[in-house]
Amino acid sequence: MKLLVSCLCVILSLAAHAHAYWYANIHHNGISPTIPNGDNWTVFRNVRDYGAKGDGVTDDTVAIQRAIDTGDASGSRASGKSFGMTGQPAVVYFPAGTYAVKSTVTNRVGTILLGDPTDRPTIKATADFSGTYLLVGHDPREPGGECCVPDGARCQGHTGVATPGQCTQLLYNDLEIEGGGVGIHLSVTQVHLKGISFKNVLTGVEIASAVHVTAQKMNFTGGSVGIDTTSGGCELLNLIDSSASNTSVLVKAPVASTAPTVQNSLVLENVIVDTTVASTVQAGQTTAFTGSTEPGTAWIHGHVYTNETSETQPLSAPAGKVVPVVRPATLVDKTGAYHTIVQPTYSEYNLSQVVNVKDVPEHPVKGDGLTDDAANIQAILDVSVDKIVYFPYGIYLLGDTVVVPPGSRLVGEAFTQLSATGSRFKDARHLRPMLQIGKPGDIGVAQLQDFVFTVNDALPGAVLVEVNMAGVQPGDVSFFFCNFRMAGARGSQLWKNCSDAKTCLAARLAAHLTTTSSSYWEHTWAWSADLDLDGASGSVLASPGGGFLIEATRGTWLLGLGVEHHVLYQVNINSAQNVFVGLMEAETSHWQGNGTALYPPSPWAADSTPLLNSDPDFKWCAPSSAQCRMGLYQIVRNSSDIFLYSQGWWTFIMGPARTFCSADCQDNGAWYEGNKRLFVFGLDTINVKNLVLEGTGPTSLAATVTHADNRGAVHDVFNTAIVAAYLKQV
Ligand SMILES: *[C@@H]1O[C@H](CO)[C@@H](O)[C@H](O)[C@H]1NC(C)=O
Ligand SMILES: *[C@@H]1O[C@H](CO)[C@@H](O)[C@H](O)[C@H]1NC(C)=O
Ligand SMILES: *[C@@H]1O[C@H](CO)[C@@H](O)[C@H](O)[C@H]1NC(C)=O
Ligand SMILES: *[C@@H]1O[C@H](CO)[C@@H](O)[C@H](O)[C@H]1NC(C)=O
Ligand SMILES: *[C@@H]1O[C@H](CO)[C@@H](O)[C@H](O)[C@H]1NC(C)=O
Ligand SMILES: *[C@@H]1O[C@H](CO)[C@@H](O)[C@H](O)[C@H]1NC(C)=O
Ligand SMILES: *[C@@H]1O[C@H](CO)[C@@H](O)[C@H](O)[C@H]1NC(C)=O
Ligand SMILES: *[C@@H]1O[C@H](CO)[C@@H](O)[C@H](O)[C@H]1NC(C)=O
Repeated sequence: MKLLVSCLCVILSLAAHAHAYWYANIHHNGISPTIPNGDNWTVFRNVRDYGAKGDGVTDDTVAIQRAIDTGDASGSRASGKSFGMTGQPAVVYFPAGTYAVKSTVTNRVGTILLGDPTDRPTIKATADFSGTYLLVGHDPREPGGECCVPDGARCQGHTGVATPGQCTQLLYNDLEIEGGGVGIHLSVTQVHLKGISFKNVLTGVEIASAVHVTAQKMNFTGGSVGIDTTSGGCELLNLIDSSASNTSVLVKAPVASTAPTVQNSLVLENVIVDTTVASTVQAGQTTAFTGSTEPGTAWIHGHVYTNETSETQPLSAPAGKVVPVVRPATLVDKTGAYHTIVQPTYSEYNLSQVVNVKDVPEHPVKGDGLTDDAANIQAILDVSVDKIVYFPYGIYLLGDTVVVPPGSRLVGEAFTQLSATGSRFKDARHLRPMLQIGKPGDIGVAQLQDFVFTVNDALPGAVLVEVNMAGVQPGDVSFFFCNFRMAGARGSQLWKNCSDAKTCLAARLAAHLTTTSSSYWEHTWAWSADLDLDGASGSVLASPGGGFLIEATRGTWLLGLGVEHHVLYQVNINSAQNVFVGLMEAETSHWQGNGTALYPPSPWAADSTPLLNSDPDFKWCAPSSAQCRMGLYQIVRNSSDIFLYSQGWWTFIMGPARTFCSADCQDNGAWYEGNKRLFVFGLDTINVKNLVLEGTGPTSLAATVTHADNRGAVHDVFNTAIVAAYLKQV
């Protein structure tokens, strides 16, 4: 149900550099292969070329909007939909300067607004600014809510970022917010906030509506309230690895609601406050908790499952429950916080260290959606170690595996597509990765950003990304804003003919993180189409096998992960160790559930499409129980040191007729078995009967955590279940 809609990407770098930013000066020869005359499409737009002055005085509103909206001879990006949702990629670049604007600037789908990281530009409202928002991140031609920056009308003073339209998003990363009334105002299903500092902001984060939020590495100083959930509510908040000083109240929550409803659950872990913070948690007018939760302990309010009991911890005194949480050394830095890194801009590189894959005459690469570019891309990667390899926007077909060697830094543009194609990926009995990040045991650097990994056809043998490599440092192997998309868009043979779930076996797996790998991911959406982004009529019923298969042992960090509509499972953590997931959002295949005639594991598990050893076979379900035979949201088996925060599994729709659910229309969420040190903080579902199955064998699973025991609020017509912590397999 989620779309890759327009996003505001704020890229920070505090370091000053003598030379110009390479990305601004490189040869920009991206094309848009799926639209008529797409060879002439302008991807890169420097606002100065559209008349912006950046002198702090001239009104640049019209010029910036022109840079965003300029289409081609057939029309503007602001009107009509002739480009589809995916046919109008753009990067709008702001060189250093102060851009004065007098009225709202509106972004469009498929657009990245990028500033010079070596000398950050400012976009500034003039004194006579008219309008509510400085920048609207939502394309009004597309469905969904508004995500806006900043909002002048709310509360006392300005709001930094507002999501007034019940947005559904994954991650806001690495922001600095100074002054104003509200730093971030949230009306969302879920979001992961990471690395955000608030200085002298009256209220740092105001949550008007959310099922859950993870707030990681927040730093509040000089405000009145850090996070306020009293104005509507957050069913579950995970605040981890954060600090506050010179702030009256760190978390302001409503007075505890009465049992058995377990809304407003709260988990604080490694939250350090100084003596100036009067209340760490305030419930109504009462202080429920003061002081810090040191690394190694979590303070929990809400429903808690331990290996011995299940109990509801009230917010009022005796407040909360303190439990030990021992994080393994592999996952944390020297302060005990989970490792995080900031998306690299590579601003320290100069032009001579950048290779444009389309400008290497001895290895011609086209990115035109027609040519198999695999061999030439491989040849370029092999000789470009320690350089930046830039992929101008395009669709690069890969007819065979491309191995990304240690020392690689791959940079896409407005979501450059790498698309598997051809017969080598068609045999489900012989899996083949499209991108292979190193060979098993390789140690080194491999970083990718701003790509879409996809398929050009139904390829039941394709694993889109296989990660084998580990780094010397956490983050050496990393993925930023890399998304997976199976079917549902132009530029693939699955655009109009993926309408039969029995045959549209789009891919085997989105990602496989193998035993030897260690990788770090920020903002990942692995989406198998349930609708058509580019307006083809008719239903889309894709059947990729699985989403993320995680067997990694050396440290894995997933921040802001969404995995949707895979047949067998969304995430399978199997015989893995040392895994941190900061937030996970998921939905099952929309064709599954009551009304379907195809019962999982079908269309997999036939002779030509056998299951993998770790795949669920659904033998615990009756043969034609449509509600039981739905892809599991999560499997965790035989694993240790697994830390999962804000796990959100939403079953909005059941069956090929896409009936909206207003009752439990999926039987089972997760299968947990044989784990050591599995810590789950925030297990939250919509319309799922059993949140967790446990057992001793594939036919003897029993529900141990249920919706009935953990009722949350109703959002629209959707019924949530909220569990603050599941700590049974410890
Ligand atoms: C290519 O685009 C430019 C500017 O966007 C336009 O002036 C020109 O007419 C276009 N050429 C073709 C062949 O469409
Ligand atoms: C939080 O921000 C303050 C003020 O900028 C700074 O002094 C402090 O070191 C920061 N704390 C952490 C843990 O980053
Ligand atoms: C505390 O925060 C206030 C703003 O709320 C600021 O004016 C004051 O300077 C801060 N004090 C310190 C010691 O930083
Ligand atoms: C439950 O886990 C705790 C550690 O959190 C351990 O001390 C205790 O022995 C366990 N109880 C059982 C019955 O396994
Ligand atoms: C670019 O950077 C490399 C590596 O730091 C350096 O050797 C080279 O001289 C630089 N080139 C220019 C033109 O600055
Ligand atoms: C879709 O159509 C293409 C031809 O355009 C064909 O090669 C492909 O097999 C079809 N895929 C499916 C899933 O029907
Ligand atoms: C889990 O471990 C048990 C015991 O070692 C083994 O029998 C079983 O096959 C493993 N399960 C998976 C899915 O690897
Ligand atoms: C799905 O079908 C089963 C069997 O007919 C029925 O018991 C169940 O209530 C249905 N679920 C929903 C949500 O309608």
